[in-house]
Amino acid sequence: MSELLSTALSVDARITELLAQLSIEEKIGQLQQVQGGGGQVSADLAQAIREGRVGSVINEVHVDTVNALQHIAVHESRHGIPLLIGRDVIHGFATVFPIPLGQASSWNPDAVARGARVAATEAAACGVNWTFAPMIDIGRDPRWGRVAEGFGEDPYLTGVLAAAAVRGYQGADLTAPDAIAACAKHFVGYGASESGRDYNTTNIAPRELRDVHLPPFHAAVQAGVASVMTSFSDIDGVPASANRPLLTGVLRDEWGFDGLVVSDWDSIRQLAIHGLTADDRGSAHEAAIAGVDMEMASTTYADHLADLVRDGLVPVERLDAMVANVLRMKLRLGLFERTSTDPSTFPVAGNVEHLQAAREVAQESIVLLRNTMHDGEYLLPLAAGALRRIAVIGPLADDPYEQLGTWIFDGDAQHSRTVLGALREALPDSVQVDVAQGVPNTRSQDTSGFDDAVRAASHADVAVLVLGEESILSGEAHCRADVSLPGAQEALVEAIVATGTPVVLVVMAGRALALERVAHRVHALLYAWHPGSMGGAAIVDLLFGAASPSARLPVTLPRATGQIPIYYAHKNTGKPATPESVVSMHDIHPRAPQLSVGNTSFHLDVDPSPLYPFGFGLTYTYVEYEAPSLRLADVPLDGTVEVSATLTNRGARAADEVVQLYVRDLVGSATRPVKELKGFQRVHLAAGERRTVRFSLPIAQLAFHGRDLQRTVEPGRFQAWIAPHAGTTTSVEFSVHS
Ligand code: NOJ
Repeated sequence: MSELLSTALSVDARITELLAQLSIEEKIGQLQQVQGGGGQVSADLAQAIREGRVGSVINEVHVDTVNALQHIAVHESRHGIPLLIGRDVIHGFATVFPIPLGQASSWNPDAVARGARVAATEAAACGVNWTFAPMIDIGRDPRWGRVAEGFGEDPYLTGVLAAAAVRGYQGADLTAPDAIAACAKHFVGYGASESGRDYNTTNIAPRELRDVHLPPFHAAVQAGVASVMTSFSDIDGVPASANRPLLTGVLRDEWGFDGLVVSDWDSIRQLAIHGLTADDRGSAHEAAIAGVDMEMASTTYADHLADLVRDGLVPVERLDAMVANVLRMKLRLGLFERTSTDPSTFPVAGNVEHLQAAREVAQESIVLLRNTMHDGEYLLPLAAGALRRIAVIGPLADDPYEQLGTWIFDGDAQHSRTVLGALREALPDSVQVDVAQGVPNTRSQDTSGFDDAVRAASHADVAVLVLGEESILSGEAHCRADVSLPGAQEALVEAIVATGTPVVLVVMAGRALALERVAHRVHALLYAWHPGSMGGAAIVDLLFGAASPSARLPVTLPRATGQIPIYYAHKNTGKPATPESVVSMHDIHPRAPQLSVGNTSFHLDVDPSPLYPFGFGLTYTYVEYEAPSLRLADVPLDGTVEVSATLTNRGARAADEVVQLYVRDLVGSATRPVKELKGFQRVHLAAGERRTVRFSLPIAQLAFHGRDLQRTVEPGRFQAWIAPHAGTTTSVEFSVHS
């Protein structure tokens, strides 16, 4: 404790000392992040650093160049303040891990931390000391391309994984050479962008903001995240980069965050485009007062902050606080003591251990959604010994680049193992592998390759189809209005299924796709997301049972785009859809006049349930859940509810089962979701093993924002489930008393 305190004091003392020496222009220089030169030290950038006009450089990853820039900052500028070197290291660096949405499917914080650790080590070897990750925006609209970068639809799961990512990037000691500062983004509400169009307006009611969008950020702050990035989006008329109640009220005053707040790229300048300010000066004023410390890319602070301070519009104390936040991060990273990077002291990027880590994380990230019986056996895992001929079909079966996914600035496709490559390695020469693209790429309507694909499938014992989306179809500014399988791929599935050969569909995608038209036609379905460098190897490991599937969906899979947003933690409404709603829907003849049947909350043209619920995923065995039970059914407000359930592995194989705890608050001063995830455990069950799994849930974790928007736990009745996914029904009831 005293050691921590003295470190904190010395950081503060050093900040005070530095602040006293800096001119107003030099202070403002610390607040400016500029674009790097792509491996060159331009004369302009060198001069700007020398004159103290730059606090951080983004997108420079050539280690010699980074060292040269740091040398100028430390040895040629007046105060010798080192630079923050920022980079989007989102799901790996040279070694690419599954996209974050894929990693979230592992429901394994250690897997997420492991991916972040490898990424940090490879990035730090290039002189990068700051990543803009994790992205922890709640993603309930898969039209939005950025769902790929987040951890899914649920605030609890996202919060747990956010903390794990922070731990992975920052390590136990932020001053260690292989630690880099993390950045929780985008604060806040970006995931609610209207219609899933990127950068759009959000409409988030205050209670939803508090209960759904803010909690992952709070978890990241509690995990010690070094920085936070503001969102591009507008929230109730005040764009996030000018939102003082959130940036200062919540983040600083309520949560005590003392790290750095950085804008998003040009997001301060964009305040004028939003129509919040008339010009750059107004934008600089709004952002500075709201709580943005550093400006990424645009230069409204550099151009106007000095005047704003002189005119008394931005208090000098506010300017000093902004600069202090930048200096604090530099000091916490130990940059003053470690001003250059020697890459030879780091492991080589893309080494065997890193690739093995990527392979294992990918194995845990690929969700088995369907596995049907064939000749009395489940199709998966495939019995390699019994195979004579296998068809490998689809544009993503052998594409080292596309399987990497979005945001892979530094990803090296040379490390990639594709499905086809891994299959050829895994199978004996006696097995004939027939390959066909089917379609030239996922978006193409060109069906001229169907005949070859059908021919390959018809002669095979099994056809493995690798379809989905190229990486360009998700990520920033890559949103889709229709989230079904693009191009002619549905027709391709149909043509291959028609051959009668058993079909394993492997989907690589950056979002939840609406697969209703294909999912139940194929014999097995693996949802691989964009699985990264070792994706192909991991898929083959799962196909042949060298690894066992354990991943679970971190998002609900819709049947159709029109159901979006569809998420498990929805409200009940006054007229919830019932099984009868589905029946009446099916009864409706297109011309029938009785369109009012049901009077419940459903669409006439689609089953109201999801295609696969949140939390769903199969293993290679069957785990039976007995009804949950309670230690005490009546618990005080300051107590803990203890719920347990007994599980039995009924199959012949071992499995890692992700056991999930859900709770429903039956009556609230404000209406409550029908289910909320409150805990999960990965449990290894040997074949035939029976085990009781227990959760201890402090009642305080049932808190929500009540009618008066105060955080509260309201006494009353609750339901609890211990379940394999959010779609199950057997629950137990308990009460909470004051
Ligand atoms: C814009 C993106 O919104 C953000 O997530 C990213 O970190 C920055 N650009 C920097 O590249």
